[in-house]
Amino acid sequence: MHKDKYHGIKLNPMKEAAKRPVRSAARDDHRHDIEVKCVSKVYNQGKDNELKVLKNVTLCLHPGEITTIMGPSGSGKTTLLDIIGCLMRPTSGTVIIDGVDTQRLSDDELARVRREKIGFVFQNFNLITTLTADENVALPMRIAGMGKAQARERAISLLKLVDLENRLGHKPTELSGGEQQRVAIARALANNPKIILGDELTGNLDSKNSAKVMELLKALNKTKGYTFVLVTHDPNLKNYADRTINMADGEII
Ligand SMILES: Nc1ncnc2c1ncn2[C@@H]1O[C@H](COP(=O)(O)OP(=O)(O)OP(=O)(O)O)[C@@H](O)[C@H]1O
Ligand SMILES: [Mg+2]
Repeated sequence: MHKDKYHGIKLNPMKEAAKRPVRSAARDDHRHDIEVKCVSKVYNQGKDNELKVLKNVTLCLHPGEITTIMGPSGSGKTTLLDIIGCLMRPTSGTVIIDGVDTQRLSDDELARVRREKIGFVFQNFNLITTLTADENVALPMRIAGMGKAQARERAISLLKLVDLENRLGHKPTELSGGEQQRVAIARALANNPKIILGDELTGNLDSKNSAKVMELLKALNKTKGYTFVLVTHDPNLKNYADRTINMADGEII
């Protein structure tokens, strides 16, 4: 475990808490954090209402990049993001995360990859209303087995990073939308994920707060090398992206 040079935040805080490492395949190619390989998704397979939502999607997500995924409503963006984030399994194909073929993992192992390597930020923030900002950020670390004092210390560092050190004890209802989303971003960073996934993360924000959140993500990306994949309808987000992927009818176009 080592500390990075920014804010003393430990880059790999969960190593000690881990009881058993997720099985890691031998790996020759370190260029990609995440590879989506020939992924298809069929909802309600074999039923009258069967729906082919993703069709043989192949995609590499490069470390340290901000990628935006755009496309019409219903084109499969959220489905793809949920599969990348191990919230859902594809019908066929696989996602390789950090050299691990997730198709081969048990449900428990998959949940563990999700917990340790993926951070999520949602449109409606999804903060726990009864917890304060620092408690919300500490929660994923506590779930992953970190001690209370250490989790709180890191939560405070992360809230400093998103410029909210003066709102530590505020509950979500006592924060603006933009502030809530910044708490959610701090929470997504809690377990030092490989990649942070956002589904319409600026969708509930006005243009000023949207820009502030995106400038924060860009700064985190530039100074700390975080990798982001952002599904969005907002063409302005393209300005912050290294790469934009367009989807239509379940395919990358
Ligand atoms: N659990 C499900 N069961 C059946 N069909 C689903 C399910 N989830 C999504 N769908 C359908 O799959 C298609 C793709 O949905 P998805 O949510 O991935 O689209 P999207 O590109 O994110 O759209 P939006 O921009 O509106 O959020 C849609 O037609 C939707 O109705
Ligand atoms: Mg969607």
